[in-house]
Amino acid sequence: IPVDPFDLVIFGGTGDLARRKILPGLFRRFCAGQMPEEAQIIGAARSEMDDDGYRQLVRDAIEEFGDKPVPEGGALDAFLARLGYVQVDATGTDGWEELSRRITEDRVRAFYFSVGPSLFGDLAERLHQYGMASGQSRIVVEKPFGHDLGTAKALNAVLAQHFDETQIYRIDHYLGKETVQNLMAVRFGNVLFEPLWNAQYVDHIQVTVAETVGVGGRGGYYDKSGAMRDMVQNHLMQLLCLIAMEPPAKFEPDSVRDEKLKVIRALEPVEPHHIVRGQYDATEKEPGYREDVEDPKSRTESFLAMKVHISNWRWAGTPFYLRTGKRLRARTSEIAVVFKDAPHSIFGAEAGRHRNVLIIRLQPNEGMTLDVTIKEPGPGGMRLVDVPLDMTFADALGPDADEVPDAYERLIMDVIRGNQTLFMRGDEVEAAWAWTDPIIAGWAARNDVPKTYDAGSAGPEDSLMLMHRDGRKWREIKA
Ligand code: BG6
Repeated sequence: IPVDPFDLVIFGGTGDLARRKILPGLFRRFCAGQMPEEAQIIGAARSEMDDDGYRQLVRDAIEEFGDKPVPEGGALDAFLARLGYVQVDATGTDGWEELSRRITEDRVRAFYFSVGPSLFGDLAERLHQYGMASGQSRIVVEKPFGHDLGTAKALNAVLAQHFDETQIYRIDHYLGKETVQNLMAVRFGNVLFEPLWNAQYVDHIQVTVAETVGVGGRGGYYDKSGAMRDMVQNHLMQLLCLIAMEPPAKFEPDSVRDEKLKVIRALEPVEPHHIVRGQYDATEKEPGYREDVEDPKSRTESFLAMKVHISNWRWAGTPFYLRTGKRLRARTSEIAVVFKDAPHSIFGAEAGRHRNVLIIRLQPNEGMTLDVTIKEPGPGGMRLVDVPLDMTFADALGPDADEVPDAYERLIMDVIRGNQTLFMRGDEVEAAWAWTDPIIAGWAARNDVPKTYDAGSAGPEDSLMLMHRDGRKWREIKA
């Protein structure tokens, strides 16, 4: 569905995120016919450049990071014609008059803060000062949204000086992933799962976000964050919320966000022995974590596994195991809901132990699988096997699967449409930090040193033990 004409200003419009994700994403939406004729996209940054220079930069970015081959038939030229550039000084006055002249009155105006959080306050202030903060103006802010509770509160306060909460779109790109939204569709669009979705029937839940990349190139940022701040406080927390929340009354922003907030507030503090931190070792070919961040003594974790409890009626006694890490065996992200054993086996001990598992795959091959126990076909008597009921979206949806927008595209279009459902509210982010801070403080107080793990493995041995001790097992990390 096309959207109404809009102006989108990307602060940090020459930066990495803009070139890799935002601009190629916008181009895809343009090719899908979702961008109206009069839409205007303005890059704003410190570098000196004119409109044509910016168009060239964006052309290069799309050729490098966009879909290949670049669609023919002049689509790229037509897209570039909607682009402009204004040189602005975020902390000074240069460029702001010019920017406000270029902005169209009486239409949706989205300002994407694709810059470090230290500039959020200045940008908000200037937008207000130059008359661009009111009416249909929206701001989009990226993670990291704060470094801890104190800094997150300060950021919320700074933005709140000039913008209403309904104008603030805090991005967590995991919420834009197709499967993440499908999680809600599966839970709340079917009668099949919800009656079983609780401690009575669910043995435990596993969330794995494994990456093969290291932190090389981003060491400066990453070493101050670690897996807890970089992935768990935001992305894994959001997944946890969507799995664990009560059904919202409506699929509307505050209905959904209220329920997510309740989950975060019900999280118990995590016992130190329920956490395993890791750092990847060097291989013959590639440097280890400490070399990547150029600090031979770094105690930051590039891997984290933890057992988490949610204190409420639905989940009392059902653990959630979370793990994420860099330089692991494969790039795979999935949620596994492991159901309890059938209460009584009529087939006897030799039938073995069989469990239903619902696997929600975020990547690769987005889709869902339900392991169902059936009779092994053939004459051999009543032998049981688990077979997957498999729904890989690309197969199930056929050629249309290619049309599925990537996380950023979807979220940007939601900003334009004014739909905040898939964005984090200020209180949600603060609650997530309030749970995270004491865990991190505990590591510092205990001088906790992460365990090393082999690059290409499933993480430190201790993380396997975390489950093993409970008589459970992680699913394998495989491509
Ligand atoms: C980012 C983190 O938010 O998410 C990165 O800063 C991480 O460290 C990335 O690699 C993972 O995103 P995706 O979409 O590739 O799973």
